[in-house]
Amino acid sequence: MIQKTYISHLTSKKNETVELAGWVVKVRDSGKICFMQFRDGTGFIQVVGSPNDMNAEEFEIMRHLSIESAVQIKGIVVENAKSPTGIEIIAKELKLVSKTENYPITPKEHGTDFLMDIRHLWIRSPRQHAILRIRHQIITAIRHYFDDLDFTLTDAPIFTANECEGSSTLFETEYFGESAFLSQSGQLYMEAACQAVGRAYCFGPTFRAEKSNTRRHLTEFWMVEPEVAYMDLEGCMELAEGLIQAIVKRVLERCPEELRLLERSIEPLESVIAGAFPRISYDEAVEIIKKSGAPFTYGDDFGGADETIISNTFNRPVIVHSYPTAIKPFYMKKDPKNPLVVRNMDVLAPEGYGEVIGGGQREENYETLLEAIKESGLNPETYSWYLDVRRYGAVPHAGFGLGVERCVAWITGISHVRETGLFPRMPQRLRP
Ligand code: 4AD
Ligand code: MG
Repeated sequence: MIQKTYISHLTSKKNETVELAGWVVKVRDSGKICFMQFRDGTGFIQVVGSPNDMNAEEFEIMRHLSIESAVQIKGIVVENAKSPTGIEIIAKELKLVSKTENYPITPKEHGTDFLMDIRHLWIRSPRQHAILRIRHQIITAIRHYFDDLDFTLTDAPIFTANECEGSSTLFETEYFGESAFLSQSGQLYMEAACQAVGRAYCFGPTFRAEKSNTRRHLTEFWMVEPEVAYMDLEGCMELAEGLIQAIVKRVLERCPEELRLLERSIEPLESVIAGAFPRISYDEAVEIIKKSGAPFTYGDDFGGADETIISNTFNRPVIVHSYPTAIKPFYMKKDPKNPLVVRNMDVLAPEGYGEVIGGGQREENYETLLEAIKESGLNPETYSWYLDVRRYGAVPHAGFGLGVERCVAWITGISHVRETGLFPRMPQRLRP
């Protein structure tokens, strides 16, 4: 049994007879005519049934279909100006594939905890479906962007022996008699890779054992991490800006239906691609927070609330660079003009979404890096391979990481990262 047609392809098939296979969203029936909202995973469409067009037995089955029953339909594609896609189906034949009883998600309001417990069913709902489709387009935009720029995909391992983003967020696991960690970032490996292939990127799951129950934190999330040899901080900012604009552009082009369904306002997204992103230093960002009247201690890292204040000042993403050396990881390059700050950058999304990208230029000097590793209390032996990259043909290089889930939350306009992927992992959630 092979499905012949998908709902997403129907607009080009007006007046043709098609066969669809999918699930019942809702049935409304007056006895003489029956309207079924139907979905097949590629879209939603109204199917109209009447005894004039189909046999009496199948019409009876259609009238009594319950939510999420699986059905196959043969029918004619006709115009209907009232439908969002301009078309609907007049049913000719209907076959019940499997009957669903007592589907737990009903049109009434449900609490998020309940829905998260039945995430395996919740993902069928139109909003969740739209978010997953937009996520797919975001990921496709990312892959095309780097591919078009001649990057080589060089995925990093998940099991690692070294930390990258601080020991407090490492997931530890037993590895044949020694300790291994789940990767917090592929960056260190990409630094080696970029000296092999010039422009490297990895794209995969990363892990943070953070007990933060916020709307921006997951314990497992997907990150794309480009790394480029002979690139400095300015090049890194340009690359990040181009990536975000490519993502927004593709979603605007490919997902107008999904954005409409999510009631996402389009203007803020359009302004993202209308011009360059402002670039401000950490010091300038601190000024913005102080001017707002919010309390802030100079030298601290920005929290979610601080990022909201900074990003609300601009109508497109803002790049904040040159953070204090003291609060940043060992690998960041100290500014030669002022070693108290590093040549790093964060990209903060507008509308209060905050940091979606973190990165910058890396320390390429062997001695300076060794010193920084020691100062961070790390064992230089564990990092001997990483130090080797500096011993053999060291060059200035830079890169960044973009968190997919935060990017999806921002672009879809939803309030929490837990709805941005299929089965999110958070401190309180390992199931389903
Ligand atoms: O700022 P982060 O920690 O930077 C790094 O890991 C660098 N090593 C990346 C690099 O330069 N190659 O993380 C990068 C991005 C953040 O901006 C955010 O979008 C996302 O990863 N992120 C998270 N997303 C969801 N849940 C979490 N707990 C996240 N932590 C970081
Ligand atoms: Mg960061």
